Amino acid sequence: MKLQNARVLLTGGAGGIGSAIAEQLSQRGATLALIGRNELVLRSLAARLGDKGGSAHVVYANLLDPEARTQAVSQATELLGGVDLLINCAGMSSFQPFPEQSPELLENIIQLNLITPMLLTRQVLPQMLQRGGGQIVNIGSTFGSIGFAWFTAYSASKFGLRGFSEALRRELEGSGVKVTYIAPRAVKTALNSGAVYRMAEATRMNLDEPDWVARKIVTAIEADAKDLHLGAPEKYFSRLNGFLPRLIDAGLRRQNKLMGQFTGS
Ligand SMILES: NC(=O)c1ccc[n+]([C@@H]2O[C@H](COP(=O)([O-])OP(=O)(O)OC[C@H]3O[C@@H](n4cnc5c(N)ncnc54)[C@H](OP(=O)(O)O)[C@@H]3O)[C@@H](O)[C@H]2O)c1
Repeated sequence: MKLQNARVLLTGGAGGIGSAIAEQLSQRGATLALIGRNELVLRSLAARLGDKGGSAHVVYANLLDPEARTQAVSQATELLGGVDLLINCAGMSSFQPFPEQSPELLENIIQLNLITPMLLTRQVLPQMLQRGGGQIVNIGSTFGSIGFAWFTAYSASKFGLRGFSEALRRELEGSGVKVTYIAPRAVKTALNSGAVYRMAEATRMNLDEPDWVARKIVTAIEADAKDLHLGAPEKYFSRLNGFLPRLIDAGLRRQNKLMGQFTGS
């Protein structure tokens, strides 16, 4: 997709990866509508982009509130005059033994990470199809290809998002609307709790900088990539898990024991 003058609806813009994506897109001449809960952070991001010659609108909404979400997408679409690019980046995670994850937490993770991207896509897609062009970008995770112990709900949500992206991409082939699924490995942002960082250090998990991840994402968008899995070993193990999952079971066994020591704190 050509990003100069592209009209972009971005969720999760107040977060580590989302704000870095917003900066990159704005530098390339895109106009943004940032939907999120954290109005103060989003307004200061929009002002920063404006100071550098960019243009960004802020639309306040808790994406877990159905009415607020629907209204926010309508308002953002109106402010932009249409949406060329939807980036579903808002997300939440949990690093806990499965029985300790409350029903409410499970529902919120699936709702925010999977159902919300589907509903936002459903809302912006008709005008893209009518124009015969547009792009949907879903920010998934390595955990959407490899189910990780202690991240059960998060893994389930990202497996779902990957499936949705793949099915929709096939359904929209020839329509002019592209679908891109991105799977970052662990990134240094507030999504991860202190316990996750301690676990990552103990297990020597690779951790990327949000700016680097955002640059890769924006390059993938410009190339209309079908998907992007970040990190060479993670990409290889994701593929291997698809056809030889028992090998990955064995490979993760020792790491799981270590990871379990850090949950819940
Ligand atoms: N960090 C990682 O290790 C990692 C790895 C792979 C994939 N990812 C994915 O990358 C995406 C961005 O994550 P991040 O690392 O940038 O995390 P982050 O810094 O915690 O940002 C998450 C964003 O989601 C927003 N959000 C959460 N709940 C919301 C709600 N109910 N309504 C509206 N917005 C809400 C947050 O807004 P508030 O400011 O209002 O909370 C924030 O802007 C997520 O989809 C995540 O799953 C992250």
